[in-house]
Amino acid sequence: MADAKSETQSSNQMWGGRFASGPDAIMEEINASIGFDKKLYAQDIRGSIAHATMLAHQGIISAEDKDKIVAGLETVLKEIESGTFEFSRKLEDIHMNVEARLATLIGPAAGRLHTARSRNDQVALDFRLWVKEELQKTEKMLSALIAAFLDRAEEHADTVMPGFTHLQTAQPVTFGHHCMAYVEMFGRDRQRVRHAIEHMDESPIGAAALAGTGFPIDRHMTAKALGFREPTRNSIDTVSDRDFALEFLSIAAIAATHLSRLAEEIVIWSTPQFGFIRLSDAFSTGSSIMPQKKNPDAAELVRAKTGRINGSLVALLTVMKGLPLAYSKDMQEDKEQVFDAAESLELAIAAMTGMVRDMTVRTDRMKAAAGSGYSTATDLADWLVREAGLPFRDAHHVTGRAVALAEQKGCELAELPLADLQAINPAITDKVYDVLTVEASVASRTSFGGTAPSNVRQQIVWWRSRN
Ligand code: ARG
Repeated sequence: MADAKSETQSSNQMWGGRFASGPDAIMEEINASIGFDKKLYAQDIRGSIAHATMLAHQGIISAEDKDKIVAGLETVLKEIESGTFEFSRKLEDIHMNVEARLATLIGPAAGRLHTARSRNDQVALDFRLWVKEELQKTEKMLSALIAAFLDRAEEHADTVMPGFTHLQTAQPVTFGHHCMAYVEMFGRDRQRVRHAIEHMDESPIGAAALAGTGFPIDRHMTAKALGFREPTRNSIDTVSDRDFALEFLSIAAIAATHLSRLAEEIVIWSTPQFGFIRLSDAFSTGSSIMPQKKNPDAAELVRAKTGRINGSLVALLTVMKGLPLAYSKDMQEDKEQVFDAAESLELAIAAMTGMVRDMTVRTDRMKAAAGSGYSTATDLADWLVREAGLPFRDAHHVTGRAVALAEQKGCELAELPLADLQAINPAITDKVYDVLTVEASVASRTSFGGTAPSNVRQQIVWWRSRN
């Protein structure tokens, strides 16, 4: 008796805390995925209905059993959606939770559903369906963000602002052109999404545990029923790879990186020092102590979500590296990363779309900044090359002297008297003033892909027909 007591005590010490009951509790805790994979219930049930229908069509189960299974699964679906379903951790995951409930509802026929399949191809199917739907949702959300930018670009095709390199004033550009830079980025993200859907559009169900099955199943039939282009071609690969999830995460990480750069610009532009934009109240907050403040919280959080999403990508890459073929339980760790990244990405895109649509663009501030910092110096150099025949290197030197003089006089290039410019280089005429304004500068950049308002308008038309 004394022995039994001290055994309990020592096991309590060993396992401690919530694992006081010992190895069983620890195993349940580490093994169960129901806490997060219940998110896959709809895909799981849809997959099972397609599988059972195919089994009956192929004469592997009776039509009567199939009808019971399908009706039972529909009941389970309703129970989960109405919140009356009781998930059990003892039953590990969504697959066994659904199947156990089916057995209670319809009896022994439930046992025939798992013929010619394994949880390995089942989870590969459920997760692929989920990721595919998420990619389709992402595609739509990116289109909405692109549409928001196209509207702002159209509105501001002529609005001049400083273009930056090293965050130092470089050359004048238009705000429309800057918006279109993001259209290009999010357009590529959307292309990546479309390609990923194409890559993953193959049905895993029927790969079974890893080797396929001896039952005369029809994988083309289930693939079609589930909306896949075709079945996967290798059963080992089917149950052992998660590159579709990695591809989703990679795309999410790249898109989040684009969103983060935009978020950073919004943070900078909305400072009183820049004052290029004013955020709407909907996407900013006040300070509890400093009444003058308006903080770009939403933009900052979008910037931060990138860290989470990148972390998820690295986490799953690390889980997958070094795993021998075929299935290993390590792969159960794939879902939380993808779910978390998907939620973060959706929120970030939605918040950004709202911010872009709602922000007030302060064209006066942009224009004033566009002209300062000798942003048309390159235009002066180009003019000297074009009109006075100077080699570009010499023109660069002459322009440098003009900038130094303007700096000394505390004026802009366009404010230097002609006599001063001619003292630096006699070939300069009063025609030069035509190119020293920011409007003239942007209007002259008509090379394909350049910032001229006419170009920007053409690009908007091109994108509108593809959005
Ligand atoms: N919950 C598991 C997962 O998410 C399902 C597959 C289990 N397969 C197995 N052979 N234990 O990966």
